[in-house]
Amino acid sequence: MTVQEHPYPLDRAHPPVDAIRAPLPSRAYSSPEIHKLEIDTLYRGRWLFVGPASAYRSTNTAAPVDIAGLDLLITCDEANDLHGFFNVCAHRACHLVTEPATVKRIACPYHAWVYTLDGNLVSARSFGGDGSTTIPTSDPQVTGLKPVSLEVWHDLLFINTAPSPRPLRDTLAPVIERIGWLQLDQMQYHSSLEYHFEANWKFIVENFLESYHVPFLHHTLDGYSPATGRYQFQLPGNISGIGTRPYGAAQINNRCLPTWQPTGGRDYPADFAEYYAVLPNLLLGVMPDHLFAWSLDPVAPEKAIEKLHFFFVGPQSTTPDLAEHIQLTLDRWMQVNDEDWTIVQNMHRGARSESFKRALLSPVMERNIIRFQQHIIDLIPAAAHDHTPWTENGNGHH
Ligand code: FES
Ligand SMILES: [Fe+2]
Repeated sequence: MTVQEHPYPLDRAHPPVDAIRAPLPSRAYSSPEIHKLEIDTLYRGRWLFVGPASAYRSTNTAAPVDIAGLDLLITCDEANDLHGFFNVCAHRACHLVTEPATVKRIACPYHAWVYTLDGNLVSARSFGGDGSTTIPTSDPQVTGLKPVSLEVWHDLLFINTAPSPRPLRDTLAPVIERIGWLQLDQMQYHSSLEYHFEANWKFIVENFLESYHVPFLHHTLDGYSPATGRYQFQLPGNISGIGTRPYGAAQINNRCLPTWQPTGGRDYPADFAEYYAVLPNLLLGVMPDHLFAWSLDPVAPEKAIEKLHFFFVGPQSTTPDLAEHIQLTLDRWMQVNDEDWTIVQNMHRGARSESFKRALLSPVMERNIIRFQQHIIDLIPAAAHDHTPWTENGNGHH
């Protein structure tokens, strides 16, 4: 394998990664102060991946979403339109919706204020002391639920708490340019898995961004998608990824799952498969016959939740005679993720040792990690400080 080996499209140049000034100190993976800076700098005001839009798109429903310390609420109104809000009552801040529910209105459990699914207050019973439903003011910005921006790309739902964020497409543009030629409107949500990590979220991203470990940790995966055929690439917008040409689609009884078809008459390699880390919290992967979108929730400096959502190609992928194919695909991912789950937590545990100051990153095998860490340091210079001087000749370890 050479890192210069180009995936489709072949006309794309991948800028080399500059040498990192110094890898992130291990303190950056456990410090509450750095964690808070990351949430404020990297997560607030960015597009955060929530999950499959179709999982929320059911008329007259409301569901809580807890991500990056944001208590949010996604509703789907009578017209099947999705809305996003802070999950907070305008009266005295009571948390509103605790479980997904089928409802036409949202009633606060505290003093029974009632909101429509598009966030307007319609009733504040006894506010005037007389049993009437006087509304405190006529300004819906004061009385209504506080909205968050919400956008859907194919079946992927994102939220952004910035007041007027740039469109989601701006963030996804480098990925759209790379996989937009696949017929992604055929995406069919199938199912999800959830992993709770006793580990910092950055270790999950870093593990996702390198294939160095594949032959050593993932023996089964290495059998059907060898690390020798893999390549790393870097896209604009600090999106990095891994490609794996020889991915072998599951063939059982001489049948395969339906595959993406290219739009616009372009040729493409039938074994095209790439993964992308779209910061801060989307890990996306396109395989010939399915797509995965994993969300990260950095719940605490040393805790993260990863939700794995799987999508297949078109409604014909879910016919009963292909159930075994789908199960094999999901089982493979579960095995890989079980292996990664164990190792990422072990890495977090090791990085807490007082003997360990920083990683020794390979400029060839771990160039995506170098780029990721440099991005964190550029945004949050304090993340680079560990009170231990960095020397070129050592690991910062005295
Ligand atoms: S806090 Fe919700 S009605 Fe009072
Ligand atoms: Fe892995």
